[in-house]
Amino acid sequence: MARVQQLVRIAPSILAADFACLGAELRAIDEAGGDWVHIDIMDGHFVSNLTLGPPVVAALRPASAKPFDVHLMIRPVEPLLDAFLVAGADIVTVHVEAGDDMRPILRRIKAAGAKAGVALKPATPAAAVASLLDIADLVLAMSVEPGFGGQSFDRAALAKIAALRAMIDRNGRTIDLEVDGGIVPETAGLAVAAGADVLVAGTSVFRGGPQAYAANIAALRGGA
Ligand code: DX5
Ligand code: ZN
Repeated sequence: MARVQQLVRIAPSILAADFACLGAELRAIDEAGGDWVHIDIMDGHFVSNLTLGPPVVAALRPASAKPFDVHLMIRPVEPLLDAFLVAGADIVTVHVEAGDDMRPILRRIKAAGAKAGVALKPATPAAAVASLLDIADLVLAMSVEPGFGGQSFDRAALAKIAALRAMIDRNGRTIDLEVDGGIVPETAGLAVAAGADVLVAGTSVFRGGPQAYAANIAALRGGA
């Protein structure tokens, strides 16, 4: 279990941060031990919520040396892809349900020197990414419907996480398996037991303000 804990990375989702002072929030989660910075991009179309765009990602870039893990919940992806890469994304994750041809998009992300991720909504089966595991660097399994923070973890995601873990292990390439939505210490443990190695957490990290972030992140690692 100790080995598993070491390997699990925590990606605080700034969707739950104080948007009036995002730079300070990034510095606070860095100091509190966050591994990545998860940035949720929503377009009011692929999902009903609307968040932020490339200029905000670029403005935040100097505030953190941690990898920017950019989760695109947008459709179409293609017209905005380069802007997010230029803005400083280290990982760009695209939903398979966005309807674009995935391979050229993933290739473009990698050609820009970033890692390419593929995301699945809760209802999308693991098999939907099978043909992309020769190129993807990360698979993101949603454990809530994308669009909003603060929802409860859907335990039906656990079987899919396990199926994805088996597919990734059979493939043999280094591919991160990230789980996003409703992660609290208890569900962190369930997700890691099912095979996740990156946990996105918004509400449970940012609860209580900056003084609480280190303990909140430590609690997630303890749960995992
Ligand atoms: C939802 C987002 C998540 C969200 C997670 O569409 O992709 O990253 O911020 O928030 P919590 O941890 O509150 O479920
Ligand atoms: Zn997300």
